[in-house]
Amino acid sequence: MLEIVLHESLLQHLDRDSDETLVRQIYRACSRLILEGSLPAGTKLPASRALARDMQVSRNTILNAYEQLHAEGYVVTHTGSGTYVSNLAPSLSRGLKPPPMPIASPTESNISGRGRRLLGNTFAAKRQWGPFVPGVPDVTLFPSKVWMRLQRRYWNTLPPSLLTYAHGAGYYPLRRAVSEHLRVVRAVVCEPEQVIITSGIHQSISVLTHLLSDVGDRVWMENPGYWGASSMLRAGGLQLEPVEVTVEGMSPSAEQLQQPPQLIFVTPSHQYPLGHVMSLPQRLMLLEYAQRHQCWIIEDDYDSEFRFDGRPIPSLQGLDQYGRVLYLGTFSKTLFPGMRLAYMVVPKALTDWVARALSELYREGRLLEQATLTDFIAEGYYAQHIRKTKTVYARRQSILREALSHHFGRDWPMSNHEAGLHLVLHLPAYVNDVALANAAQAQGIWVRPLSSYYVADAKPGLLFGYASVSDEQILPSLQRLLPLIDRALATA
Ligand SMILES: Cc1ncc(COP(=O)(O)O)c(C=O)c1O
Repeated sequence: MLEIVLHESLLQHLDRDSDETLVRQIYRACSRLILEGSLPAGTKLPASRALARDMQVSRNTILNAYEQLHAEGYVVTHTGSGTYVSNLAPSLSRGLKPPPMPIASPTESNISGRGRRLLGNTFAAKRQWGPFVPGVPDVTLFPSKVWMRLQRRYWNTLPPSLLTYAHGAGYYPLRRAVSEHLRVVRAVVCEPEQVIITSGIHQSISVLTHLLSDVGDRVWMENPGYWGASSMLRAGGLQLEPVEVTVEGMSPSAEQLQQPPQLIFVTPSHQYPLGHVMSLPQRLMLLEYAQRHQCWIIEDDYDSEFRFDGRPIPSLQGLDQYGRVLYLGTFSKTLFPGMRLAYMVVPKALTDWVARALSELYREGRLLEQATLTDFIAEGYYAQHIRKTKTVYARRQSILREALSHHFGRDWPMSNHEAGLHLVLHLPAYVNDVALANAAQAQGIWVRPLSSYYVADAKPGLLFGYASVSDEQILPSLQRLLPLIDRALATA
């Protein structure tokens, strides 16, 4: 009689148009009936041949479904006599409510509070390549043949120590190479032991947030600032306090100075996205302040290798006499973002804790890539690649800037053209830059609205990433975009 229960259930629920295989549907129907007690322990399941005939499916379909039930312990088979429902633990055979069939999709109410805060503020673009995507270098210039040659050396010998998990701080020779590079190029004061290799600045921020702050702590965030950092800090449970950015860099108000935060996130050498350089008085003030109030400064130095005018701007970390600065850098801009290799330089006293936190949270790897990168740096390819791409980006930046100035006039406000991978075209307050960027996307142009970088008091504008657009592509891409900007300007 109990067989009828199974027959009816299958006839009712089998869906031949579903994406789910018939084997999976039959397995789910049976396991559900067993869990809810409709097929109690000892029930004999129909013979596979008979059930296949009744359900008009192949015998193999039934056999495969029974096999899965058997593998998971729902049924037992007695050779020659058939397949029987197992005697499941009392807690399973009684009272357990199986999920309804078909399983309901989760709704927003299933998402946690912090999950909703994260998802309510997502800005990562769907496209990370194409005309004017900001923040992306020209990945097609990467010297892949050199890289493959260097990497092959390791693949040929397959050293186990490079294929296993990484110790929290990363591959020591790379830490040493990075510390030398940073000492020379960024005036960072550090020993190799202070360098910790990570899988990106996002991950560095995550580790530091876990280690140096508690849920509910406050963090000063540049306004406008890097949305990715805001997302990481918000996801870490911190309260973001927007701090105005002036030409002097992050400039906390007198009122804000009265309430020291736990963390301060700042891009002093090349403010993201406006491009300002933090002045020396402001730097010294921030360091003194952090020392006096025991705050931690997270210095994001994401693309300072690309400065086209004047001398390089030394890091804030190099001025820090108190050990309050956590310096972050990345290979995403100098090499390519998909490499997912970055580094932080942390005060000596924190080195071991940061490395341990990284291991616990992320169980790092990528040692083979780290070893290859060490050779790439040591054999001079890294410096060579930076020199080459810097020239290319400077040229693209000037083609773009000239074209924009030609169209909008020399005095049109633009910022961030002395360094980096993007420039900002500012727009009057009445322009809806989000709608404009959406309209541009429909034309295959991926400018980003400046307003989306603000946590408060947003101002409109467009970010143009020029590094990844070939010289020949710049003007044709711009020609597609300019009419849209003109139209937005005309509709006051
Ligand atoms: C200011 C800033 N910091 C960090 C990053 C990302 O670094 P990573 O790729 O190492 O996570 C970006 C990427 O655009 C950025 O603009």
